[in-house]
Amino acid sequence: MLKQTVWGSLELHHYPDALAVVRASSPEQPVILNRPHAAARAARFFVDKFPGRSLYAVKANPSPDLLRVLWNEGVTHFDVASIAEVRLVRETLPQATLCFMHPVKTPSAIREAYAAHGVRVFSLDSLEELEKIVTATTGDDGKAAEDLTLCVRLRVSSEYSELSLASKFGCDLTEARDLLQATRQAADSLGICFHVGSQSMSPHAYVQAMDRVRAAIVDASVLVDIIDVGGGFPSIYPGMEPPPLEDYFAIIDRTYESLPVSYSAELWCEPGRALCAEYNSMIVRVDKRRGTELFINDGAYGALFDAAHVGWRFPVKLLRDDTMVDITGALEPFSFYGPTCDDMDHMDGPFELPAVIKAGDYIEIGMLGAYGAAMKTAFNGFGSTDVHVANDEPMASQYRGDRRDPRVSDNVVSLR
Ligand SMILES: Cc1ncc(COP(=O)(O)O)c(C=O)c1O
Repeated sequence: MLKQTVWGSLELHHYPDALAVVRASSPEQPVILNRPHAAARAARFFVDKFPGRSLYAVKANPSPDLLRVLWNEGVTHFDVASIAEVRLVRETLPQATLCFMHPVKTPSAIREAYAAHGVRVFSLDSLEELEKIVTATTGDDGKAAEDLTLCVRLRVSSEYSELSLASKFGCDLTEARDLLQATRQAADSLGICFHVGSQSMSPHAYVQAMDRVRAAIVDASVLVDIIDVGGGFPSIYPGMEPPPLEDYFAIIDRTYESLPVSYSAELWCEPGRALCAEYNSMIVRVDKRRGTELFINDGAYGALFDAAHVGWRFPVKLLRDDTMVDITGALEPFSFYGPTCDDMDHMDGPFELPAVIKAGDYIEIGMLGAYGAAMKTAFNGFGSTDVHVANDEPMASQYRGDRRDPRVSDNVVSLR
């Protein structure tokens, strides 16, 4: 059986589903399952239906295999936030367009990105950062770069989102006029970008943000070439059932059309979560049961960072190959402990699982493609993982065409 580490690129073994992996190998350590077909479907959806250009925010999941899947479906632009991400994407996809969208960068990162990796798009939210970018991209002959696309990041509300991005980055409207005017002088192409926060549960978040963009443009009286509405497009998790993505796209399109921008302006978005949430699930083993607490072999320092630190609930499924026990019976709320020695390695859930669950059982945890598989560390000696491909459907999908049907349950029990 072929094995590899999470980001390796050996050819992977394909299984029909998670239960088949358990049957074949009774895995000792957690197993990440890739679903390239789900990521490909998400990419096609954005490429076909978003009324502009879709960049992939690499931060959400930097797996080279995933980057290649997205590229093959027509995602050509990548939002990178560190020089390591710049190098990774350049090495994996030599033809890709890279956009360095972290508003606070080191001069050496900007210099390397511009001179060695062909990066021309940068974001900023202060005059200091503008000066840094201009200096770092000025040639040895003292000539300033004439090919920069500079995107000014505006601070907008995160009130409709599950994870706020409203504090750390973005300039306020009071600062935007000076910054937009100064950036216009230095840029060949001027953009305005924002982020409404991750897992935005209402399309209205983008309307509010675009109202701010409009006010900033009018106040600064500058010609704007790009409006980048950022990420924030939601996926489906227990207790979080957002409206269909088409509703988001329609409202963004309408609002964008009414903005006072250049006649040849472009609309961009930078989804992370929505493109990769469905890409991964993980198989974990129950090492101990104590009442309604399950001790499992991955946790807060692994792919379940969000479950531990922001109380995110992921869908779960018992993988029991046992026809003698009715595992479709009553569900009970469980919490998880991860494998490290920390009390903090705890995930409240609740995770609804059959009452019969016991040590030695396996659980599949779904929707871990975004900010899940990417978060794994080797803390306390844990973190080794096998990786395989699963051919079945992710536990939930924005892209199956059945999004308007009410969902029966947040938790799914294997019926085999
Ligand atoms: C600048 C930027 N763009 C895009 C994203 C992706 O956001 P999401 O995963 O919510 O779509 C992030 C995530 O933090 C980000 O910081």
